[in-house]
Amino acid sequence: MSDIAIIGGHGKVALHLARILTDASQTVGSLIRNPQQRADITAVGATPVIADVENLTTEQIAQVLVGYDAVVWAAGAGGGSAERTYAVDRDAAIRSMDAARLAGVTRYVMVSYKGSRVDHGASQDDGMFAYYEAKAAADDYLRATDLSWTILGPSTLTQGVASGRIDVGASLPRGDVSRENVARVIAGVLAKPATIGRFIEFNDGQTPIDEAVDAAS
Ligand SMILES: NC(=O)c1ccc[n+]([C@@H]2O[C@H](COP(=O)([O-])OP(=O)(O)OC[C@H]3O[C@@H](n4cnc5c(N)ncnc54)[C@H](OP(=O)(O)O)[C@@H]3O)[C@@H](O)[C@H]2O)c1
Repeated sequence: MSDIAIIGGHGKVALHLARILTDASQTVGSLIRNPQQRADITAVGATPVIADVENLTTEQIAQVLVGYDAVVWAAGAGGGSAERTYAVDRDAAIRSMDAARLAGVTRYVMVSYKGSRVDHGASQDDGMFAYYEAKAAADDYLRATDLSWTILGPSTLTQGVASGRIDVGASLPRGDVSRENVARVIAGVLAKPATIGRFIEFNDGQTPIDEAVDAAS
């Protein structure tokens, strides 16, 4: 992988990822909706691309994605209304998958969350209900595409410095994981085709990321 599009490019995970990839001499286009974030994107070595995926059609997103080798979905509505959560975390995410296919970009990495599944068990009055529904729908849509996908399931995100070590497994209890570790895992899976078709759930832990990702492949 050498030319990566990050959707939600100004997110905290996304900014770490852009820095990691550009430090490794890869080219990054960071899709942002707010032009005032341009300087933060160039500061991490990436190219800002103005694209509000919530309000673009599939065809318009596809035009933006043409020429990239891979797409990383790192965007999110970040809570707020259920309406916007569905609009971003489900509907825009799904359009971006169709857009990747239209643009001929076959590799797609989704940042989901640990435990994402349709039968999440939360009730409708749970404040996270819309998020759980939206992410499960987007993840399942991705699984059903012919894209070369990897879905990542980090636990609760922290601002901690990357330890470079994680534990992987669906049966692990929900824990914490630093956003910088998440970015390192994304960079790792982009470099490892064996992770295609995997849902990798992880916490901060004991195993060096490279080894942990290999073991999950
Ligand atoms: N929080 C957790 O504990 C947790 C746990 C597991 C997984 N996750 C997942 O991890 C993801 C990344 O986390 P994070 O902390 O890096 O998130 P973040 O800092 O909130 O970043 C999300 C980014 O998405 C962007 N975005 C929203 N709508 C957009 C649109 N229409 N077009 C383009 N960009 C848009 C936001 O841009 P603006 O600046 O314009 O709003 C923001 O920069 C989350 O979205 C979530 O799904 C979170």
